[in-house]
Amino acid sequence: MTYETITVETRGAVTLVTLNRPKALNALNSQVLADLTDAFAAYEADGDQRCLVLTGSGDKAFAAGADIKEMLDKQAADFFLEDFFVGWTADLVKKTRKPWIAAVNGFALGGGCELAMMADFILASDNAKFGQPEIKLGVAPGMGGSQRLTRAVGKSKAMEMCLTGRMMDAEEAERAGLIARIVPAANLLDDAMKTAAAIAAMPPMAAMMNKEMVHMAFETTLDQGLIAERRMFQILVATEDKAEGMAAFVEKREGQWKGR
Ligand code: CAA
Repeated sequence: MTYETITVETRGAVTLVTLNRPKALNALNSQVLADLTDAFAAYEADGDQRCLVLTGSGDKAFAAGADIKEMLDKQAADFFLEDFFVGWTADLVKKTRKPWIAAVNGFALGGGCELAMMADFILASDNAKFGQPEIKLGVAPGMGGSQRLTRAVGKSKAMEMCLTGRMMDAEEAERAGLIARIVPAANLLDDAMKTAAAIAAMPPMAAMMNKEMVHMAFETTLDQGLIAERRMFQILVATEDKAEGMAAFVEKREGQWKGR
């Protein structure tokens, strides 16, 4: 499948999706949303694919935000009636139950930062820069920044970022807990693909349920989350992969997963 604004390739059990509008610093327009939604649905439906990496083309940006030129002439009523940005959170995140990683190679600003934060976790190059500069355009985050950044780094830092529009470098992002790890820029894609391959080699139902449970921690009370966690565990122990995983441990060999 070929797309207008992204490229997609599979390497073993890992899907690599690259935002491909380098001249616009991979700005996110409606076509990018349509292409990503389709590519993520294809990944979700493909039983052989077990982890996905999303990155940006070029050496400058993961994505410099929602496409300002697309929004320039739109009126408030257009944004409201189209429920502009709804597709990003409604489809990309909620319908993707399998794991995916954002490999942030440069600017992740506005919608770019928000897209990265939709991932299960972020790996960032040492030259990555994160920010929610929407205030400088007279607006505010629209793809989850005010909510996800606040949950990721806490109120004070999220508020400062949103109110000043300043950028955070990779070191600060790591200290603040926004990203999982910093990787030298030259190794970012290689490292992200290796990390994804390691996840892809795990029992797939366990990977999906681990993901679901960590996400649930942001959505529920501790008590409800602990109940859900135990139920999830109790479901996983009924899988063939649990029997195989524990037998393989005792027999000192690698597990051979059936995915059920
Ligand atoms: N939308 C559309 N085009 C963009 C863009 C964006 N968000 N960001 C960069 N571009 C385009 C520029 O217009 C420029 O195109 P032209 O050559 O045709 O003029 C090209 O990409 C290169 O950009 P610059 O020349 O500006 O590159 P730079 O190295 O001087 O600066 C930058 C890099 C600091 C990232 C700067 O481009 C910038 O500030 N971009 C805008 C960042 C921003 O405000 N993002 C938030 C958008 S709103 C949003 O995302 C809402 C939301 O919450 C969903």
